[in-house]
Amino acid sequence: MKTILLLNKKFKMKISSVQVKTAIEHIADRINSDYEGKEILFVAVLNGSFMFAAELLRKVKPLNRISFVKIASYQGETTGAIKELIGLKEDLNGKHVILIEDIVDTGFTLDHVMSQIKSTYRPASIAVATLLFKPQSYRKSIPIAYIGLEIPNDFVIGWGLDYNGYGRNLDNIYAVDNHSS
Ligand code: IMP
Repeated sequence: MKTILLLNKKFKMKISSVQVKTAIEHIADRINSDYEGKEILFVAVLNGSFMFAAELLRKVKPLNRISFVKIASYQGETTGAIKELIGLKEDLNGKHVILIEDIVDTGFTLDHVMSQIKSTYRPASIAVATLLFKPQSYRKSIPIAYIGLEIPNDFVIGWGLDYNGYGRNLDNIYAVDNHSS
């Protein structure tokens, strides 16, 4: 099994690039049939989603555009940690929106993004596409229409996902090897 060392942490290869690409093709096939004849506005949540978004959009056939957003986290005076969606320049009213996420873990990030969009816009429809999903750690009830791969609760890198900013470029998905020192 292929292992790599990143910032003194050992990671083991878990999902090959071929498996990732096949999972993305399956998502694209479903989107192609679900949205036939409709226009899609993709909203990709940076940073981690850039690789998934690029691969997915190559395979999507209906007319579409993509916009990129970021989550800015800062400390509010009375409310504690605030997560704000920044960079959304599009008017989502009346649009068929598909949110693109790299990974849904607890779902708190997705919940913030969804509630901010829904408090400002009335999209015609809104769906979520995520490359990876950790069902054992999901704490929210937002339906996730398009899931690439379900994974256990391991910390993973590659395909846009990072460890302290590194490892996003890795072409396979690697999980941290907790048994190594
Ligand atoms: P959530 O809010 O717990 O669902 O976490 C979502 C965000 O946490 C993702 O967009 C990632 O940035 C980060 N994250 C969660 N799990 C992992 C992981 O295994 N590797 C890298 N980043 C992760």
